[in-house]
Amino acid sequence: MLIAGNWKMFKGPGQTREFCAAFSPPAGVDAVLCPPFGSLGAAVAGGHTIFAQNVHWADEGAFTGEVSTKILLELGVQGAIVGHSERRQYFGETDETVGMRTAHALERGLRVIACVGEQEEERRSGETEDVLRRQIAVLSPHENLVVAYEPVWAIGTGKTATPELAQEAHAFIKSMLDVPVLYGGSVKPENAEALLVQGHVDGALVGGASLEVESFTAICETAARLSRS
Ligand code: PGA
Repeated sequence: MLIAGNWKMFKGPGQTREFCAAFSPPAGVDAVLCPPFGSLGAAVAGGHTIFAQNVHWADEGAFTGEVSTKILLELGVQGAIVGHSERRQYFGETDETVGMRTAHALERGLRVIACVGEQEEERRSGETEDVLRRQIAVLSPHENLVVAYEPVWAIGTGKTATPELAQEAHAFIKSMLDVPVLYGGSVKPENAEALLVQGHVDGALVGGASLEVESFTAICETAARLSRS
């Protein structure tokens, strides 16, 4: 099971070093930390599996503010999150650019967590499947690709999707694309088991609860226990 911690724009190199020194993931879980760009070097030095939070589709070029696969690989970074809803919402990320970023990163040997998920109004108006279909259409199966289903209304709000709802959305995604699917959106030690026990939930993308070693470790331990059983 893959448990990834998305630190968003939190933790500089100092706090990253402290976290990495204190973090010791249990055996049997693929634990990944996703620090902001400026802390990637410190995180890699900490000896854990490190992903970036974004990656560009060109090898290099005039793309101010972006980062390439080449730079990430040189740093020792193993993968990247692509298409997080905060990128889509605040920074103009589109399905098309998500597709380009994902395809290029996979081709260059990075692992990718591609994020999809509907907004609250879209769910209310019955458009969830149309939105997911459109977001998944730009992705192709690959051994290093996983999708994270993150309903936008559940991110950072404390409103987790019910395990049944997650299971249903994951099954729908897998009917279109045969890759592991992580759940994301207010995952915490208290709700991790109910979500991870679902047959179509193959791991979690954790935001807020990944910022503390104790809570992130507790989620990783739940995943390790369920993988054994
Ligand atoms: P959250 O964030 O766990 O704080 O809801 C999840 C995410 O944005 O990946």
